Amino acid sequence: MPEKIDYDSKIPNNVDLADDRRLQRALEGWQPKFMNWWAEMGPTLETQGVYLRTAVSVGREGWAHFDHVNVPDYRWGIFLSERDPDRRIAFGQHKGEPVWQQVPGEYRADLQRLIVIQGDTEPASVEQQKLLGLTAPSLYDLRNLFQVNVEEGRHLWAMVYLLHAYFGREGREEAEALLHRNSGSPDAPRILGAFNEETADWLAFYMFTYFTDRDGKYQLGTLKESAFDPLSRTCEFMLKEEAHHMFVGTTGVDRVVQRSAELIREHDTMDIASHGGIPLDVIQRYLNFHYTVSLDLFGSETSTNAANYYTAGLKGRWMETRRKDDHQLLDDSAMLPLPRDDGTWESEEMQRILLLNLDLRGEYIADCESGIKRWNRILDDAGISFRFALPHPGFNRHVGINSGHHITPDGTIVDEQTWQDGRKHWLPTDEDLAFVRSLMRPVYERGKIASWVAPPRQGINGKPFDYEYVYL
Ligand SMILES: [Fe+2]
Ligand SMILES: [Fe+2]
Repeated sequence: MPEKIDYDSKIPNNVDLADDRRLQRALEGWQPKFMNWWAEMGPTLETQGVYLRTAVSVGREGWAHFDHVNVPDYRWGIFLSERDPDRRIAFGQHKGEPVWQQVPGEYRADLQRLIVIQGDTEPASVEQQKLLGLTAPSLYDLRNLFQVNVEEGRHLWAMVYLLHAYFGREGREEAEALLHRNSGSPDAPRILGAFNEETADWLAFYMFTYFTDRDGKYQLGTLKESAFDPLSRTCEFMLKEEAHHMFVGTTGVDRVVQRSAELIREHDTMDIASHGGIPLDVIQRYLNFHYTVSLDLFGSETSTNAANYYTAGLKGRWMETRRKDDHQLLDDSAMLPLPRDDGTWESEEMQRILLLNLDLRGEYIADCESGIKRWNRILDDAGISFRFALPHPGFNRHVGINSGHHITPDGTIVDEQTWQDGRKHWLPTDEDLAFVRSLMRPVYERGKIASWVAPPRQGINGKPFDYEYVYL
């Protein structure tokens, strides 16, 4: 498998596409449909060029090239990480056997489903972010938005490649359907709830790239363990690109908190709305919302599907090979916290293999805590006593064992009335959303930035903040 990417063909790739005429023709047939989708559902703002990175190799070093690109001319392509000829299945009933280069017939339907669900999220986020280019707080941020968008488009390509190459006619039909469903569409919505929510403002964008792209990192991490080697290698390279999306989220929220802290100090009040800043309690409510819809993406805490995928070798655990157990989980147990109708919590012991979604969610939550720590450090450094916190995992849930209960951010099970009274303190209100939206005015002058967010500490690829990242 070449590390270098072939940029001479119509579809850049490192999978020797030129050697498989049928597949090449099929993908070249899908390409204009993708371009139509991009034109219709992609970023609204037209530009004369954006300083973007493009993958030029899949190797460890120097994989990306940076230059101004006319966005519709971006070279979306198919890039898989290098193949390890000795790779073996790390878990489940086939543990120790060589990984698969083709799809075993018995797992065909399940693998296709996993790929379609992953593939569906990629274009969805582009659709959700469609209008954000009209209100970017700086050219630097505008560039980051486009970078995230083109790479989510490429992740769609990654999944479509697998569908075309390994799943025959049904795979090709699913590839079409990925362009047919749209975020928030009443007739044909995206498969998962969080991907039908609006990303209506830039605070929501930073929260989305922090919390929801991070869910993506964990899902890709489990598929990277897959016994189906082409899926594993695809996900490995996607994870490389994904890191930047989460960087945009982490530093985006950093900069909002930083700016709010400055305004609080400057005006000696927590009520900074009239000074053009976002109050900390509003940021906390945004955080609560985006965190909880992202938790829903992990599915039900107990899952026989997840157990079956694991046993079959289709989807592993986060960092599977670093886990110190038998990687089959036949006799292990774990505890599941359950809310009871009388308002108390109980803990039930269950087979560990039935709690794999909970296991993955636990890894994710621990990772999310690192953001909370960073943002609280910014407040601490500014001498502000307010502290952000992740709400209890039972709070505001629509999927899984907590979904039928009203649970407050501190984990208290409450009645309907208490929930309705508390809501406005816990989740963004219409006024919060309208206020944040009122701050969203584009700042497209080089080196300038909106009132509600601090400039980044560094630019992209060694360029300064006042670099002309986007030609308008
Ligand atoms: Fe992605
Ligand atoms: Fe992403």
